[in-house]
Amino acid sequence: MNTLETTVRYVFLGAAACFVLGLHLMNSPRTARRGNTLSAAAMGVAIAATAVLLLDEGDITGTGWLVLVLGGVLGSALGLYAAQQIEMTAMPQLVSLFNAVGGGAAALIAVNDLLQTAHPESLGARITVPGALDIVIGAVTFSGSLIAAGKLQGWVPGRPIVFRGARGLDVALPAAFAVGTLWLVLDPQGTGGLMVLLVAALAFGVTMVLPIGGADMPVVISLLNAFTGTAVAMAGFVLAEPVLITAGALVGASGGILTKLMADAMNRSIAHIVIGGFGTGDAPAAIGPGGAPAQVRSLSADDVAIQLAYATKVIVVPGYGLAAAQAQHELGDLAALLEEHGIEVSYAVHPVAGRMPGHMNVLLAEANVPYPQLKEMDEVNPEFPQADVALVIGANDVTNPAARRPGNAISGMPILDVDRAKSIVVVKRSMGHGYAGIDNELYTNPRTGMFFTDAKKGLAELKAAVRQFVV
Ligand code: TAP
Repeated sequence: MNTLETTVRYVFLGAAACFVLGLHLMNSPRTARRGNTLSAAAMGVAIAATAVLLLDEGDITGTGWLVLVLGGVLGSALGLYAAQQIEMTAMPQLVSLFNAVGGGAAALIAVNDLLQTAHPESLGARITVPGALDIVIGAVTFSGSLIAAGKLQGWVPGRPIVFRGARGLDVALPAAFAVGTLWLVLDPQGTGGLMVLLVAALAFGVTMVLPIGGADMPVVISLLNAFTGTAVAMAGFVLAEPVLITAGALVGASGGILTKLMADAMNRSIAHIVIGGFGTGDAPAAIGPGGAPAQVRSLSADDVAIQLAYATKVIVVPGYGLAAAQAQHELGDLAALLEEHGIEVSYAVHPVAGRMPGHMNVLLAEANVPYPQLKEMDEVNPEFPQADVALVIGANDVTNPAARRPGNAISGMPILDVDRAKSIVVVKRSMGHGYAGIDNELYTNPRTGMFFTDAKKGLAELKAAVRQFVV
């Protein structure tokens, strides 16, 4: 190894350390931006160091460089454009598309390396088995992520799609993985094994994701993200590139942990989600405000405004409906008005409120809500009994006391103890269900009043109404 190679290896090591540090910084919203920048910069430096090494080795032709540079510039520009333009509500789709690209690239790296290697005699099982794994995981991630993004975007129906013969394919396709891998080990430079693996894996990605309901997609996307990382780590083994192994392992492990945390916070197993269950999309209104059960108390904007204006402590509970209505700025304005008049406002953030991890944190950050006002479930739950008003905006399942009882879809899911507040106001359009598709017992609590409206419109009305009552 010459001096340049040694230096580049040290740069890779430094980059890997920065990835770990970057992930650590993402632990807190305060430092997350820095963590993201640090990891991206480290990846930039690792790419530049690789380019220097390739230049020194002189193995790449002029056309090769053109493809590399053009690909890099185009890919970066597209990624930057997509990330800047995307609506917060469409973020899961974007992540899914990025997963597809990552998984597809990892699979192609293995295909290329196995076909192009200058030393076929060196292609022992030590290389071909990780290569086969890379192709399988990468291709499953590619097709699965495209279907997931399509379901979330509405290009593919969000309901579970089950077709005849699906069960047979669930057995046949993994069997094809085994056959393809064996074929590749026996004939590393032949295309037969590669084709079997690629076709079976692409088909498996489709058949795996089609039967899963659209609303379960965030968990599936997180799982596919873990797959992308694993595929990249396998590509690192094929290419003997430690930086790929480190980055891939980090993505694989963190994606896996996130998937587990999300599943735990929903009190469901990952297997249950992948096999399919509830969460097949947002359920339509079960009972409209007109036909609602007798116990439900309907409130006007003025009724709610009086409660808020005379409160000392208000806890806001944001949920998916806030994101769907894009009402975060109206909420921020209302909270600022209450605070100007000496009313304490805090936000109770459930770990799976909304449809993606950190959904509420990102929304509230967009509305410039100060981070200290955001409280996690364990911290805020003991505060509900002291709250004069719990203001629930577009949240449903994460507040449903039915979770404390066995025998329903959300049994055992940790919830926000909204029903322990002195008064509860729920802002939503109807008695419609949330993601889990079950009635919410909170709405029939005698201390609960329902303000039936779109969150954005309702919050704007509330702000105007509160002005009349605050002194
Ligand atoms: P949900 O239980 O899904 O309820 C959202 C409510 O928002 C609906 O009942 C809907 O009622 C209301 N809504 C929709 N659009 C609205 C609008 N424009 N204005 C006002 N309200 C509106 O939401 P949640 O409480 O945030 O719970 C999240 C659920 O998603 C949990 O079951 C969780 O397990 C699941 N989930 C979460 C994640 C992550 S990572 N966050 C991933 C997958 C699944 P109306 O139709 O009556 O308005």
